[in-house]
Amino acid sequence: MPAAAAPTNIRVAVTGGAGFIGTHTVELLVALQAKVLVIDDHSHPCGEPLPREVEVISADCASVAAAKALAAFKPDVVLHLASKGGVQKAARDPGDHVKMSLASTVGLFDAAIKAGAARIVTASSGGTIYGEGAHLPAREIYKPAPLSAYGAAKRSEEVYMAALGLRHGISTLAMRYGNVYGPRQDGTGEAGVVAITCYRLLARAAPRVYGDGGQTRDFVFVRDVAAANLAAVLGRATGELNIGTGRETSVNTIVKRLLAESGRHSATDFLPAREFEVRRVCLNPTRANRLLKWKAKVSPTTGLRETWAWFRTRHSAQRAATLGLP
Ligand SMILES: NC(=O)c1ccc[n+]([C@@H]2O[C@H](COP(=O)([O-])OP(=O)(O)OC[C@H]3O[C@@H](n4cnc5c(N)ncnc54)[C@H](O)[C@@H]3O)[C@@H](O)[C@H]2O)c1
Repeated sequence: MPAAAAPTNIRVAVTGGAGFIGTHTVELLVALQAKVLVIDDHSHPCGEPLPREVEVISADCASVAAAKALAAFKPDVVLHLASKGGVQKAARDPGDHVKMSLASTVGLFDAAIKAGAARIVTASSGGTIYGEGAHLPAREIYKPAPLSAYGAAKRSEEVYMAALGLRHGISTLAMRYGNVYGPRQDGTGEAGVVAITCYRLLARAAPRVYGDGGQTRDFVFVRDVAAANLAAVLGRATGELNIGTGRETSVNTIVKRLLAESGRHSATDFLPAREFEVRRVCLNPTRANRLLKWKAKVSPTTGLRETWAWFRTRHSAQRAATLGLP
């Protein structure tokens, strides 16, 4: 069993390990001397090189190649972070989203079980699963009521995983993350307000907010999320866990803080609110505190400062490269 295995012996397969949350998590696993196999199709890597000792296969997580790699690797635990498309993309084409996310995920679960994994931990979404109107901070016992295709797919992944776990006698855990932010996040896509705002500020563009900016989210720093993933991989908790701070922060507050960090003065572009996005998100992390002995440690001030510093440094390096500077 994973929890009984010494961390140095544990074998962990991480799908999506080349991504934003994945690279931070893999680094912690490697620091514990776990044996790590990353399965990533490199459709959206964050660009950070993985530690040398990690075995990497470039493949879709539901492919025959991935199943073969898993069977050869014989993981104790599979941590599933691979995923395509966010709330808006899923809303535009839910059928396609299900093929890319839910179908891929179920294929991966099946391959993990056939490879003999004793435990599966999967990335879910506390921001979309509870829907609108939950008494906040939301607790895991609340009835899921996703409003978006993305949230419905994430909830379906949880249900599939639990059913397969019961059927095959393996332990399963869904990690319901809040809004994860921090270094290495992609600021060029349509999700991730912290990264997008950093990116825009560095491009000398005005911050952009959808709606009036009063919508709130539970922003959680990526290193805290990686620590939660590590505790989940090594632990025995099952079911669903909120991975958040229990604090609500408005998008306007985030933008204001990043403007202050950057020393820029700029008006904000307010665009029409996006469909399928809930007004308020706040996750009660008590269950994760208790079962994983985990708590978000990084304050918003520290997290946003570190994130801004990372974007600024990377931007300077990219500009220097463009200009041919050392
Ligand atoms: N970032 C957040 O705020 C947040 C919030 C809630 C849940 N999540 C979930 O956490 C997980 C990780 O998110 P992230 O922000 O690190 O995303 P990311 O896009 O940075 O990383 C995902 C990684 O998975 C890879 N990938 C995508 N589809 C794949 C497939 N079919 N097979 C193999 N590899 C594939 C990509 O190349 C990428 O490296 C996802 O499941 C995401 O839905 C993220």
